[in-house]
Amino acid sequence: MRHLISPLDFSVEELDKLLDLANDIENNPDKYAEACKRKKLATCFYEPSTRTRLSFEAAMLNLGGSVLGFAGADSSSAAKGESVSDTIRVISSYADICAIRHPKEGAALVAASKSDIPVINAGDGGHQHPTQTLTDLLTIRSLKGRLDNITIGLCGDLKFGRTVHSLIHALVRYENVKFVLISPEELRVPEYIREDVLKAHGIEYKEVERLEDAIGELDALYMTRVQRERFFNEEDYIRLKDFYVLNKAKMEMAKEDMLVLHPLPRVNEIAVEVDDDPRAVYFKQAQYGVYVRMALILTLLGIEV
Ligand code: CP
Repeated sequence: MRHLISPLDFSVEELDKLLDLANDIENNPDKYAEACKRKKLATCFYEPSTRTRLSFEAAMLNLGGSVLGFAGADSSSAAKGESVSDTIRVISSYADICAIRHPKEGAALVAASKSDIPVINAGDGGHQHPTQTLTDLLTIRSLKGRLDNITIGLCGDLKFGRTVHSLIHALVRYENVKFVLISPEELRVPEYIREDVLKAHGIEYKEVERLEDAIGELDALYMTRVQRERFFNEEDYIRLKDFYVLNKAKMEMAKEDMLVLHPLPRVNEIAVEVDDDPRAVYFKQAQYGVYVRMALILTLLGIEV
């Protein structure tokens, strides 16, 4: 039995296979319409979500399966003090696979250690968000045609943004990927990512504060929101929340084929006027999230079509 807790749980070859499957699902949805008949997906979300939870549910429904779950800690027995370990032991007898989102780093790993069914980390605190990474990789590979030989800018809250941490972990395994880390000083990428991931793999990267200084050299720009829910005080959040706003003027400095990605939700960091730019692919990215989660469910359940 396999789980997905970190993007490193799949080798590059396995990732390629998964992304190929996602593209096949995109092109031939009918082929997969009954692949998960009589299978059940549990979505255990202790934190708010729109895309991850609903795209998981859409994915299982598209595969002919069923879904059950809860969408907030308050509507589960976590509110009465039940542990994640006990919850997953119970869910193991109700469902065939489980996607869990939790505010505490490591919660999905704990769940996996007590589970009799595959567990998918749908976001654990400020740590990792591997299925967002699968979505990001599928988006870049499908629209750019490659995952190697790219310069990617990661912009915004690189400290608390778990999607950024997972994406860096995944991309360092491809050839000639360069990173430009764009953040204010207080929201720099954590030291363990710089030391244990970037430097340890000999990856070329630089850190800048101004988006204008870097945007012209990027093949992809990954914008992120400032993660209000992870700040210790509101004053810091208010001071930093509008540090970056990608607008039409800044897009004019970018390459003609630079992709703009964002895991969403967006707050103010991308002006609505950018949405019509063909390089803005963040809504398409959310759509890719369904295909890749369908591919993931099939893979973890060991179902071949
Ligand atoms: N990208 C993402 O995780 O969005 P949600 O928080 O809406 O699931």
